[in-house]
Amino acid sequence: MGEGRAGDVPWWRRAVIYEVYPRSFTDSNGDGEGDLAGLRAHLEYLADLGVDGIWIAPWYPSPLADGGYDVTDFGNIHPMFGTLADADAVLEEARALGLRVIIDVVPNHTSNQHPWFTAALAAGPGSRERSLYIFRDGRGKNGDQPPNNWISCFGPEVEGSGWERVTEREGRPGQWYLHTFAVEQPDLEWRSPDVLQRFDEILRFWFDRGVDGIRVDAAPAIGKEPDLRDADYGGDFRFMTLDWVGNPHWDVDEVHDVFRRWRAVANSYDGDRVFVAEAVVSSAERLSNYLRPDEMHSAFNFPYMKSAWDASALRTVIDATLDQLVPIGAPATWVMASHDEVRLVTRYGRKTTSSAHFADGQGEVSDPVLGTWRARAAAMLTLALPGGAYIYQGEELGLPQVDDLPDEVIQDPVFKRTNGATRGRDGCRVPLPWTGDQPPYGFSPDGVTTWLPQPDTWGRLTVESQLNDPDSTLSLHRQALKIRHEHPGLQTEDFAWQDSARGVLDFVRGTGFRCVVNVSGAPVDLGDATVLLASGPLLDGKLPTDTTAWVEST
Ligand code: GLC
Repeated sequence: MGEGRAGDVPWWRRAVIYEVYPRSFTDSNGDGEGDLAGLRAHLEYLADLGVDGIWIAPWYPSPLADGGYDVTDFGNIHPMFGTLADADAVLEEARALGLRVIIDVVPNHTSNQHPWFTAALAAGPGSRERSLYIFRDGRGKNGDQPPNNWISCFGPEVEGSGWERVTEREGRPGQWYLHTFAVEQPDLEWRSPDVLQRFDEILRFWFDRGVDGIRVDAAPAIGKEPDLRDADYGGDFRFMTLDWVGNPHWDVDEVHDVFRRWRAVANSYDGDRVFVAEAVVSSAERLSNYLRPDEMHSAFNFPYMKSAWDASALRTVIDATLDQLVPIGAPATWVMASHDEVRLVTRYGRKTTSSAHFADGQGEVSDPVLGTWRARAAAMLTLALPGGAYIYQGEELGLPQVDDLPDEVIQDPVFKRTNGATRGRDGCRVPLPWTGDQPPYGFSPDGVTTWLPQPDTWGRLTVESQLNDPDSTLSLHRQALKIRHEHPGLQTEDFAWQDSARGVLDFVRGTGFRCVVNVSGAPVDLGDATVLLASGPLLDGKLPTDTTAWVEST
């Protein structure tokens, strides 16, 4: 039996992990940017919140062309965040508080300023250095057309080629390189033995330092059909990978050879070192491929996260997930938000509550009160489902998306690539409010300007103010996490739907635990059940619309 198991269950099967976006968590040195000393100072807050661990978004040296997902050195820490010694201290102090630590590894691409890429540019066509990346000659006369029609994630939405042409040493227009994401993020060639070898070393470097797990960024991106044939996007040039079936540069079967190799690396360590995949693929069945016993341990459930606030849509995705994963023995991993998504309070306060694409619902008016009730109800649904769950920083505070950031502070590459048509993800990355009633709300020392401006209206959303309010969204999360750890019904992976009215999700877990989520237009009678926790006040003993209750079932 591995280290850190509760009973017979490996820790990662039902852990609640808190996503830390380090740039926006806490700034200890007053430069307006979050850092690792700031994270260390608040690890106790996270332990008290009741989560089991943290996932830290990329902390590596990076020019920050894509928020740190453009890495120049996988074996070091961005000076803005601190040093390797600070990272070691985070690991050690987290361990002392009983928190697991998962870090982010980005295998599909590096920064275009990574020494591997600058060497590839300098070495020229046909070199071993170039073989680490996907360089090709262009099509057409003079090779001035991209090698194929593959698109980039960050637009533009029409003809947003995923290829960029380079200038060779002699100053003449040269080969093209593939970038599935921003132009500053050249894709690595995963058929190269050098790439395989170098990433084995990166995994070992971090496992040796004691990390408990690795979140694998954009996992389905790393495989490409060798003939680089054109993709058939069916006329929709948005990067909608949930809809892509048989695409030649996404979720190609050969990616699994790499993840089997990685699993063998993790298995060579003591304890339960785990992988969690970011894999936005077309079906629960395709996702389950990543979760075979010799591949990843867990994978975020994107269809759940992107679902509308609608009982039948949610029920369909919960069923599809459990039907696919339970028979193969893999845990579900429920997630409602991340550094890439519109914050739930804002999304659920809009008419369009689903989020299939970055721009869904953009520009729609959002009702923050409605959004907050729904986000609270959704948090309790998520924490009641069998399996693991992730909470993105600030969701426990019910922060809204900051929709009105001035154009000049926006950094998301999607903003530039779409000429401002898509505002992008900065609005969910605004620094956290900790204390006080005006910016920087204890995120930075007083008087410091934060890297993204915080709204003037966040005084009532600070950690300090919510800790003093038993009805706050933070208090709700703390109570829910406590019950989740203690209630016997939630220690199992059992799950069964109960008969319910249309628009109501009603299920039991193990012995004695029932969760009722009211997404219908009418109140739900809970009878004389003992309510353990509710996301909002009951009215005459009834559960109002957009409210969840956890009750003791008989
Ligand atoms: C993942 C990250 C996202 C990043 C992209 C490219 O989707 O979550 O923030 O832009 O990968 O690395």
